[in-house]
Amino acid sequence: MVAGAAAAGETAAMSTVCVTGAGGFIASWLVHRLLSTGRYVVHGAVRDPSDPKHAHLKALGGAGERLRLFAADMLDPAAVAAAVAGCDGVFHVASPVPTSKPADPEREVVAPAVAGTRNVLAACRDAGVRRVVFVSSVAAVAVNPKCPAGIDLDEEWWSDEDFCRTIKGWYFLSKTLAERAALAYAEETGLDVVSVCPSWVLGPLLQSTVNNSSLTLIDYLRGGGDTADDKVKNVVDVRDVADALVLAYEAPAAKGRYICRAYPMSMAEIVDTIRRFHPNHTYPTNFVKVQDERMFTSKKLQALGWKYRTAEETFKDIVESYKAAGILN
Ligand SMILES: NC(=O)c1ccc[n+]([C@@H]2O[C@H](COP(=O)([O-])OP(=O)(O)OC[C@H]3O[C@@H](n4cnc5c(N)ncnc54)[C@H](OP(=O)(O)O)[C@@H]3O)[C@@H](O)[C@H]2O)c1
Repeated sequence: MVAGAAAAGETAAMSTVCVTGAGGFIASWLVHRLLSTGRYVVHGAVRDPSDPKHAHLKALGGAGERLRLFAADMLDPAAVAAAVAGCDGVFHVASPVPTSKPADPEREVVAPAVAGTRNVLAACRDAGVRRVVFVSSVAAVAVNPKCPAGIDLDEEWWSDEDFCRTIKGWYFLSKTLAERAALAYAEETGLDVVSVCPSWVLGPLLQSTVNNSSLTLIDYLRGGGDTADDKVKNVVDVRDVADALVLAYEAPAAKGRYICRAYPMSMAEIVDTIRRFHPNHTYPTNFVKVQDERMFTSKKLQALGWKYRTAEETFKDIVESYKAAGILN
């Protein structure tokens, strides 16, 4: 990789990379992270660069000189090819993550996730891209009745496609099929593809809209009742996910899949932590234990050099961000 290869004291060459779905929650932090290194020119692929919801990207430090937005629906191969042209690396982040129940999930979620991935990979191969970092999810790891209880799941595990269909887990299915397609394409063509599978991603919002994983926390906090379900979830800060994606791109040794999860935390612990930074809100007082999520290990990513911040830092910054956005009053 150009960025990681410079010897000590040598000025690293500028590298051009593309981030798909650049205006989304994770991708915005990734663009921010890439620009802040001063080492990357970023092609941000979004459906419509003139949409006011992308104003935050144009305001990022370094954006004026080093961020170029491209109009690219992932389902339009020519537009994707134009965004990827001239890039050393591509971060394929875009995928449908609906915030409400889709009417036709096969057509609105599953098919575009896979078709978009195929278009991006074909464009990368044609453009001679050196490495693609594919954003998958633990949704592609753990949705499998064969996963034994009580173990931390690692990268060997895959969600079961038939089981995803049986439980109508269309998002899980979309991520599983798309990641499998990405890794199979890498195998067939020799394209260097590394996938990163984040767990529940939370953190401050750069974008003006509210994405699905943030909405889950917000809905919980706004629940209003005394009683709420309590389960242990796998949390990771969005800024640590951005770091993981850059690491997966830059580390010469990166290969295969990487689970990206920081720590387990129960909803009651999350509420307690948020309350410390924002006491003037009505929180549930009675927590009813329900089945915990499957647990994961990120040992492989940590061995590559990945580190994550504390829960205190994450939730303190979430409170500040949500207050500024008028989400928590
Ligand atoms: N947040 C989490 O907890 C979490 C956990 C694991 C994995 N992930 C993965 O992380 C990625 C980003 O998710 P996020 O949480 O940041 O949600 P997000 O803010 O909703 O980001 C998804 C992005 O994909 C774009 N997109 C979807 N279909 C597209 C298409 N056909 N053409 C162009 N752009 C398209 C969306 O653009 P529009 O707004 O224009 O639709 C949006 O910018 C996804 O691949 C998701 O599966 C997220």
